[in-house]
Amino acid sequence: MFSLRYAQDGFSLRSQFMRLCGQLQGRKVVTLNSNPEACARVLASSNSKGQGIELMLACPAWAPVFSIESVDGDKWEWLSKEFSKLYARLDWQTKIAPLTRKHVSCMAEIARNDQGFVLDAEQISRLTANILFEIIFSRPMTRAEDDIFYQASLEWRKEIAIKGKASAKAKSDFWSLLGELLESSVFADDLKANAHQRNLYLSLFAQPLIISPQINFSDIMSAVFKYLDQDPKLRAKALNAARDRDVEYMQNICMESIRLNHPFPVLERELTRDLKVADQELSAGTQVYIMLDEFKQEQDFNPDRWVKGAKNPYRTMPFGTGQRMCLGKQLATEMMGEMLASILSEFLAERIRPSENHLYSGRDNDGKDSMATLLYQLKIFSGALKDSLSIGRAKKADAKGRAKLGNCPFTG
Ligand code: HEM
Repeated sequence: MFSLRYAQDGFSLRSQFMRLCGQLQGRKVVTLNSNPEACARVLASSNSKGQGIELMLACPAWAPVFSIESVDGDKWEWLSKEFSKLYARLDWQTKIAPLTRKHVSCMAEIARNDQGFVLDAEQISRLTANILFEIIFSRPMTRAEDDIFYQASLEWRKEIAIKGKASAKAKSDFWSLLGELLESSVFADDLKANAHQRNLYLSLFAQPLIISPQINFSDIMSAVFKYLDQDPKLRAKALNAARDRDVEYMQNICMESIRLNHPFPVLERELTRDLKVADQELSAGTQVYIMLDEFKQEQDFNPDRWVKGAKNPYRTMPFGTGQRMCLGKQLATEMMGEMLASILSEFLAERIRPSENHLYSGRDNDGKDSMATLLYQLKIFSGALKDSLSIGRAKKADAKGRAKLGNCPFTG
């Protein structure tokens, strides 16, 4: 079965689709799948995601959440500014290491008492949510909250990966719970002050701090253990480093796994100024896609390329760069390192199986495209073509201004 969403060998239907959208919109589309330094220049040059995959496919899948990673314009400016304030207020620096250790230890204790327990993708997602929940709300999650968060993350990842429509109930259960939690938290006054834009305010927590990490961390741990499992020498070295609590080496393993198996299949920018990229003169307005899931790069697994100060052309790949780079980079890096160190030192090797039960997201997709999935994808992709046609028409009619996607709720 061919896939419209992810990279495949040979003929790339996805690239053809991106180009067709560009043609209908009356804009040039460029895809880059090598040269990390040129890609970094593109990412740093613009703070606009443009009118591509993020706007047409990711934003509707995220609704009612406004995903900071995906929206543009006024909405992005507000979310980005407010998220930075919230991030500074969370005091995560003092909490991240002890909470990560505590939650991995709790899970390891469960594994010791239950011979059937496996640390699979579901458990990594739950672990991630439990750590971040306690950082936000300063108390542990209940099992009922844990279930609602996990179910929601599954449904959102299904819709974002264009595998099917998410359950409206799972989304709304999560949305109501998040609202209630914030109403009785230290953020209650801010929530009240933002009552006129409640969904936007809730999004500050929902996407970057809850749903996305649940998805990304299971993607990343799945990749990490793929590399550790296939190289006994690397695994032994990692185990020793974990026992010595060499968190930096753990982080370097995670960064190298992200480089080779990035949880974001594609990054994109609309150029807001002319730019020379690897001998190509690209004009403002060009939509550039960086195809991380088919990136041509060195394939040897070498965590040492991430040692501080080492020359490494891939440095900006894991978290992007420029104004739209990952705002949670420090938190994510520390949490990954602590999580990996604790998992390696607390779990028996045969119980660590994060690629099991992984379902759909990032690179380690389940690969199970059914006819129903394909029909769903065709519907979504034909909607994007229709939107592109509208954008192209609006652009022609409004020669002066930047055409918008109808009355777009995601760009403000
Ligand atoms: C290890 C897991 C993570 C990875 C690999 C990751 C990676 C990324 C990437 C690649 C982007 C887009 C960059 C671009 O377009 O150039 C991004 C955006 C973002 N990330 Fe992360 N991220 C992770 C975890 C987190 C966490 C835990 C947080 C919150 C604490 C976070 C907050 C954000 C925000 C707010 C943005 C949007 C930035 C913007 O568009 O202004 N990320 N992340």
